[in-house]
Amino acid sequence: MSEPIEISEQSVGQAVEVALAAIAAAQDSTQLKAVRSAHLAESSALARLNASMRTVPNEQKAAAGKLVGQARARVNQAFSAREAEIVEAEDARRLAEEAVDVTALASRWRPGARHPLNLLQERIADVFVGMGWEVAEGPELESEWYNFDALNFDEDHPARAMQDTFFVEPADAHLVLRTHTSPVQLRALLAGELPVYRVAPGRVYRTDELDATHTPVFHQIEGIAVDKGLTMAHLRGTLDHFVKAMFGDEATVRLRPNYFPFTEPSAELDLWHPTFSQGPRWIEWGGCGMVNPNVLRSAGIDPDEYSGFAFGVGVERALMFRNDVKDMHDMVEGDIRFSQQFGMVV
Ligand code: FA5
Ligand code: MG
Repeated sequence: MSEPIEISEQSVGQAVEVALAAIAAAQDSTQLKAVRSAHLAESSALARLNASMRTVPNEQKAAAGKLVGQARARVNQAFSAREAEIVEAEDARRLAEEAVDVTALASRWRPGARHPLNLLQERIADVFVGMGWEVAEGPELESEWYNFDALNFDEDHPARAMQDTFFVEPADAHLVLRTHTSPVQLRALLAGELPVYRVAPGRVYRTDELDATHTPVFHQIEGIAVDKGLTMAHLRGTLDHFVKAMFGDEATVRLRPNYFPFTEPSAELDLWHPTFSQGPRWIEWGGCGMVNPNVLRSAGIDPDEYSGFAFGVGVERALMFRNDVKDMHDMVEGDIRFSQQFGMVV
């Protein structure tokens, strides 16, 4: 037990003043806790004054008790009041800090963007659907027969090496990653009833190095029409409508003689692009021709009764000159910022 202190107005008044000053100075509940143990708890000056009551002579006890009692009550009251203020302020601050704006957009929410190559393929297909054509699909892992043989590529024909092929093991399964969408020509002829008017967009594979204008995995759109009396004029008319719908009224096509085993005659398909960023010019876009009678025969169709035309164009190339994309790397790297430039279409 500590030494008794003399109870006087001065000693009590000083203890009260010091305690009140400390209470007023406390800024948060941690500081207030320290104030409690220093100025209100057992070892505090006021508690010691209270304990000193036992040494006060009886006739002074009433007055001293009143003095100390009132002092303690004042300090306790001041403490409670400050404590209430601090609790309220801390609650308010916590509420403000933890507030959730339920109407706010989540900061990490990002709408996806469809890849421009997919959008372009759909747009192209839409042009043909608008002419009454159907949209078809074929497998990317294709049998060599559909990819080459049925398309009139001879076993040892150098044309087979024209496209650098990913052959798939085991070799005797005769499977390839399709090198073009042309095998869908055959599939369309074998699956459907005549006449056939189909487009087939899809992914194709070649052992090309990735550079600004080539990629080993790219997309083509194939078109095939087989009906009675179709001629090169129908091919031209169809392509002309197609490019005008895609590139504007001034766009047109030019056919240059070429060779493909599955068409006869065959042509290189060039596009006249009037708004090309580097000035209006002819751009090589794909191949086309009249369906080779041998291909019709592979599908069990009599070439004396039916004729057809087919074409195949590169979708990456179209995206390059339609949207002024200078480097094909951008199309395959999967950076969402590239896709976002084409709009957040989902
Ligand atoms: C063919 O693939 C033929 N199947 C086209 C065809 C269809 C002819 C129907 C006749 C009848 P070619 O190999 O030229 O043809 O490829 C066509 C187009 O694909 C090219 O003009 C080009 O636009 C695109 N292309 C070819 N290789 C690549 C590549 N590595 N990267 C991106 N695009 C390519
Ligand atoms: Mg070519």
